[in-house]
Amino acid sequence: MEKHIFLLILLFLVQFPISIASSNETDQQALLAFQNLITSPNQFLANNWTKNASFCSWFGVTCSTRRLRVVALALPNLQLQGTISLSLANLSFLRELNLENNLCNGGIPYGLGQLPHLRVIDFQNNQLQGSIPISLFQHQRVRIISLAFNELSGEMWKGPWYVPELKVLDLANNSLTGIIPPYVGNATKLMNFDLSGSRINGTIPMEIGNLSQLASLSLVDNQLTGFIPGSLFNISSLLGVTLGLNHLSGPLLLDEGNIESNLKILSISFNQISGRIPSNICQLTQLKILSISFNSITGDIPKNIGCLAKLEMFLISENAISGTIPASLGNISTLQHFDSGDNRLEGQVPQELGKLSNLRVLNFHKNFNLIGQIPKAIFNTEKGQNYPQTIRNRANIPSASFLAQKYPCR
Ligand SMILES: *[C@@H]1O[C@H](CO)[C@@H](O)[C@H](O)[C@H]1NC(C)=O
Ligand SMILES: *[C@@H]1O[C@H](CO)[C@@H](O)[C@H](O)[C@H]1NC(C)=O
Ligand SMILES: *[C@@H]1O[C@H](CO)[C@@H](O)[C@H](O)[C@H]1NC(C)=O
Ligand SMILES: *[C@@H]1O[C@H](CO)[C@@H](O)[C@H](O)[C@H]1NC(C)=O
Ligand SMILES: *[C@@H]1O[C@H](CO)[C@@H](O)[C@H](O)[C@H]1NC(C)=O
Ligand SMILES: *[C@@H]1O[C@H](CO)[C@@H](O)[C@H](O)[C@H]1NC(C)=O
Ligand SMILES: *[C@@H]1O[C@H](CO)[C@@H](O)[C@H](O)[C@H]1NC(C)=O
Ligand SMILES: *[C@@H]1O[C@H](CO)[C@@H](O)[C@H](O)[C@H]1NC(C)=O
Ligand SMILES: *[C@@H]1O[C@H](CO)[C@@H](O)[C@H](O)[C@H]1NC(C)=O
Ligand SMILES: *[C@@H]1O[C@H](CO)[C@@H](O)[C@H](O)[C@H]1NC(C)=O
Repeated sequence: MEKHIFLLILLFLVQFPISIASSNETDQQALLAFQNLITSPNQFLANNWTKNASFCSWFGVTCSTRRLRVVALALPNLQLQGTISLSLANLSFLRELNLENNLCNGGIPYGLGQLPHLRVIDFQNNQLQGSIPISLFQHQRVRIISLAFNELSGEMWKGPWYVPELKVLDLANNSLTGIIPPYVGNATKLMNFDLSGSRINGTIPMEIGNLSQLASLSLVDNQLTGFIPGSLFNISSLLGVTLGLNHLSGPLLLDEGNIESNLKILSISFNQISGRIPSNICQLTQLKILSISFNSITGDIPKNIGCLAKLEMFLISENAISGTIPASLGNISTLQHFDSGDNRLEGQVPQELGKLSNLRVLNFHKNFNLIGQIPKAIFNTEKGQNYPQTIRNRANIPSASFLAQKYPCR
């Protein structure tokens, strides 16, 4: 047995001299091979990266002090064009690679995901194509993967993820297909996960609730189906959840019991969410934006909605919400936008709304059974003049919207 272990270790050592033999000469060659495929305005890079100066002093290059090996290559915002050379995978001590905001095209070299020390790979806002190397989802050290605003396609890796240090995964605005695999739950240090603007389908896996450090989740504009996992709302670090423009269905459910939420933004508009606004939404005490517009939500607005004491935007238009407008809304002094257009609200507009001194947009458009007077107090502030005095949706005036309302939050 011991003999076998010894042999294994020996074998292991035999494999290594290759990388030990690599040197700062390799780094120079790798940088020059990279530069060879890139053009920059006025040949800026070619002129700067000349052999009569050490590559450690080249623009954008940072070397380790002791070994003089490249540890960072940062060339953002330089209008660089061309493809990213596979040679960068020879920079075996590279920790940070930033080519953000350039015009690079072609694919992402697979070998970059195999650089053992890589912590940051930022190719945001280029014209990169092809698929994301699986190697990036199986990396012990990587912390930031930012590939947003490219033309990446193909299926997002649905096999095992081994990214124990990953904090930021930003893949927004590409054309990725496939699903969010349950393995995402293994990326336990993930703080910022943005997959918006792609073609991801399937459901949002339950395991997303395992991401106990998640601060921001954006899955806007995909083809997601199924329920919104309630476990999501029990992540106390979570500040923003935006899931708009998908095909999500089922009710919006928050787990019962003690959840400690710091959520400020919850946007699920443009889906097929049904059921009621849950009355335990009061647990989201820090909520500033609640956008549930363009869904199939029914039932009343919870009478205790005034519990959301920090709410600034309450956007519920284009649903089938009925009942009266709760007087407790008038207690949310921070409220700026209340858009309830195209629902089935009825009865009197509560005079308490007159207390909302920060209100800027109030929309009751197409609630045909809403009656009574707009609270006079609303006009006592300097917000504007030409507000209609009476909501007469029962008569033939179809709309009493105060301001054309866009839907800022999806
Ligand atoms: C390259 O750029 C660096 C950093 O701006 C500058 O210090 C250096 O002088 C430049 N070298 C050449 C050859 O232009
Ligand atoms: C590098 O060397 C070339 C030729 O030897 C010379 O023309 C050029 O000025 C040198 N550049 C720097 C920054 O020293
Ligand atoms: C490579 O390292 C050696 C020894 O540390 C040093 O003398 C040499 O200048 C370095 N080469 C470059 C291109 O930095
Ligand atoms: C990487 O370095 C090795 C050894 O120096 C070299 O043979 C190989 O061509 C390099 N690969 C690339 C893609 O530059
Ligand atoms: C999570 O990673 C561990 C190893 O770190 C692995 O054993 C397990 O299968 C992974 N689970 C998922 C769901 O990816
Ligand atoms: C992002 O993608 C969406 C489509 O999903 C598109 O409408 C939008 O213009 C894109 N944004 C940018 C800045 O490219
Ligand atoms: C997701 O889309 C692919 C095509 O891109 C399709 O083959 C697959 O069945 C879809 N999966 C789900 C769960 O809708
Ligand atoms: C991850 O989530 C699943 C489903 O919610 C759960 O069964 C599992 O115990 C969780 N794993 C960890 C390590 O928390
Ligand atoms: C919320 O998470 C805590 C641990 O962080 C757990 O003890 C509690 O049971 C969870 N609550 C619900 C409703 O899942
Ligand atoms: C508004 O807040 C006051 C003071 O907290 C409270 O007494 C009152 O019942 C609330 N009104 C409604 C309608 O919830």
